[in-house]
Parts: sequence; C-alpha cells; structure tokens
Amino acid sequence: MGRVDGKVALITGGASGLGEASARLLVSEGARVVLTDINTDLGAEVAADIGGDAIFVGHDVSSEDQWITAIEAATDRFGRLDVVVNSAGIADMNNVEETTLDAWRRMMAINLDGVFLGCKYGVKAIKQHGDGGSIINLSSVSGIIGGHNLAAYNASKGGVRLLTKSVALHCARQGYNIRCNSVHPTFIDTPMLHKMIGGSSDPDKTLAKLQRQVPMGRLGRPDDVGYMVVYLASEESAYVTGSELIVDGGIVAQ
Ligand SMILES: NC(=O)c1ccc[n+]([C@@H]2O[C@H](COP(=O)([O-])OP(=O)(O)OC[C@H]3O[C@@H](n4cnc5c(N)ncnc54)[C@H](O)[C@@H]3O)[C@@H](O)[C@H]2O)c1
Repeated sequence: MGRVDGKVALITGGASGLGEASARLLVSEGARVVLTDINTDLGAEVAADIGGDAIFVGHDVSSEDQWITAIEAATDRFGRLDVVVNSAGIADMNNVEETTLDAWRRMMAINLDGVFLGCKYGVKAIKQHGDGGSIINLSSVSGIIGGHNLAAYNASKGGVRLLTKSVALHCARQGYNIRCNSVHPTFIDTPMLHKMIGGSSDPDKTLAKLQRQVPMGRLGRPDDVGYMVVYLASEESAYVTGSELIVDGGIVAQ
C-alpha cells in the first residue's frame, strides 16, 4: 500500500525543483498527479518521464482563468481532486531600495496571488467529493525570518504563511476536512537556488557561505521537502492543519 494511494494531486511548478520532486514521490506512493507550470516543454517532459499516472497542463499561476482550466483538466482526467501543492514561485535578491514596483508586483502576482488562487479553487474542487483533502503551500524560512536583500520575497512568503492559517481555519470551521499547511524550506539544491547564487559576484564563495549557515552543514535535497509534502498529502497528517512545517537543517532553531 502506498501512503497516498488513490489520491489525485495538482502540483504547480511541477516542471522543476521541489514541485517535480514532490510529484515523483507522490506517484511512487500511489497518487496520480497533474503537473502544471509555465515551462511547458520541461513540464511535458517530466510528466512523460513519470508515465501514465501523471499529466501536464500549461498554467500561469497568476491567472485566475488558467487556474479554473487547470483544475478542470485534473478533474476531467482523474475524476476528483484531493491535494493541491502550491510550489510555483520566483525569487530575487533585492533590498527595499533596489526593488522596483514592477518587480514587487510580479513577485506578489506569482508567489502570493498564485497561492491564493490555488487555495480558493483548490478548496472549491476538493470539497465536491466530500472526502476532505490537503492544500500544501510552499513558503520558505524567508516567510519566518527576514533578510536585508529579500524585501519582496520575504513579503510574499510571509503572506503565504498567514494565508495558509486563514484557509485552514475557514475549512475547519466549515467542516470540510480540508487541511492547509505551509512548508518552510531553507537552501535546497534546485535551479532556483543556483540561479540566485549564480547572480552573486562569487558563486562558489556564496555557496560555501550558505552551507556554513546551516547547522547540519549542507544544502537540502529536493526529496527532503518532497517527503514533507507526501506526509502532508497523506492521512498520516490527518490532525495537522494551519501549521508551518520547517525543513531547514536547523536554521530557524538558532
Ligand atoms: N530552492 C530553495 O532553496 C527554496 C527555499 C525555500 C522556498 N522555496 C520555494 O519552493 C518553491 C519551489 O522552488 P524551487 O526551488 O523548486 O524552484 P524552481 O525554480 O526549481 O521551480 C519553480 C517552478 O515554478 C515555475 N513557475 C515560475 N513562475 C510561474 C508561474 N507564473 N506560473 C506557473 N509556474 C511558474 C517555474 O517555471 C519552475 O518550474 C518556490 O515557491 C520557492 O520560493 C525554495
């Protein structure tokens, strides 16, 4: 028996990094998955590699219309929706003085509007079958602690953290049995992290510095987060809602 046998999960940002790792682990534990992403070539490639239990849908998470279409594609193909993993996101390293209003708005549109829409339409779809479900929002340790050069990213991830609690409390109050939790990774070895490091003046030095900041002394692996997603998607976490689950090698404990 898999840990999420029979469940159907929609995973945004499924073409890469934590979304991809979560999708692969969910399928290995018995789920069927709908990967969505703006990177249509890579998303289709990943879904084809996973096989018959995965489909891919092109989807910009900042678009309400595209959310409606993506969720319809999931329920048309698999007949139900049990889990939404909001993993799509962007990051940049700018302080408040450097951040332009356009960059701020783009960050909010993808990282915060995208998660809001995923919760709104996820709840609507999951409650149809009455069996409950789970919404899993990728925040960050940057949704808990600030960084001098993460003005927009901090704000978007802090927003995800508290939006998650509001969604969880609403669903509990309505008796939907839909749980909603946020996941807070630190530096995980994905294309996003490498893009951020690549933008620094000395990427090797920056990487070594990041690793030194982690009490466990290493970057996280995508599966370190993927296993948390599997736990939250499964019935093992049946009494966990409105929680912030930290996957950070000890950073926030300091
Ligand atoms: N990697 C880390 O160190 C780290 C740490 C903390 C939190 N996170 C968060 O985890 C999530 C996943 O990050 P990752 O490391 O896998 O990044 P990634 O860049 O590897 O993957 C992100 C995916 O989101 C997609 N995407 C971007 N904009 C989109 C949009 N408008 N609509 C749909 N898809 C879009 C990208 O095409 C990409 O496939 C993000 O929300 C990120 O902020 C990552």
